[in-house]
Amino acid sequence: MNAMLINVPGHRTSRVHPLQITRAAPWDILFFLTEVESGAAERHFIPEISFSQKVQNALALRCAKAILGGVWGLGRLFKSDQFKSDQFVVVRRGNQTLGAALASTDCAEGGRKTVTIEYLVVESRFRRQGVGEALVRHFQANATDGSEVCAYCTAQSKGMQKLLRGLDFKCSNKAISIPNGKITHYLPSCWIWRR
Ligand SMILES: CC(C)(COP(=O)(O)OP(=O)(O)OC[C@H]1O[C@@H](n2cnc3c(N)ncnc32)[C@H](O)[C@@H]1OP(=O)(O)O)[C@@H](O)C(=O)NCCC(=O)NCCS
Repeated sequence: MNAMLINVPGHRTSRVHPLQITRAAPWDILFFLTEVESGAAERHFIPEISFSQKVQNALALRCAKAILGGVWGLGRLFKSDQFKSDQFVVVRRGNQTLGAALASTDCAEGGRKTVTIEYLVVESRFRRQGVGEALVRHFQANATDGSEVCAYCTAQSKGMQKLLRGLDFKCSNKAISIPNGKITHYLPSCWIWRR
């Protein structure tokens, strides 16, 4: 995937420094983890309860593998199995990173792919400028015929739900909470877009 210059229709995209979607670099991992941590504190991600050190380490490792997998043809070394791979992409304006997304791709037999946007974050200063939309559009634009892009949203992620609805995603099930004794299990809503 090459760097891509984009203009999001109707958004406040600067002509001098248009938004650029590109593969993430190692220094983006810290940006991403910081934003996911604050999003998790606002219960935008599953697990909603805690973003523990263990979860952070695992996520950092996935990001690092996705970065390395994208260069020098190392992708095959880092796939958990032959049908799965991760993409870690960022949105920049000039030298500044504004947002990032980690998505996994599942490849079914016959070549049909499901791209799951697992984490999508935009730094709070840059929200409502089309950055989140640009990231989702990026995955839609790269989807091959018959493939689907999906995302899971907690009940708290109203902004993300509106964003997805605006890009023709359909909600296949609503977010629910299931009390189980002292613990409550949260199931996110599932949003699917098919090419
Ligand atoms: C959700 C999030 C990714 C949206 O990113 P963003 O760059 O602000 O979104 P965009 O500017 O591309 O928004 C596109 C459209 O989505 C909708 N939208 C986005 N955020 C919204 C919000 N907070 N409230 C209402 N609508 C919202 C609007 O329709 C918006 O268009 P508009 O600005 O012309 O009204 C960002 O708020 C974020 O990082 N939140 C914390 C983490 C999170 O919730 N991630 C998603 C988990 S599933």
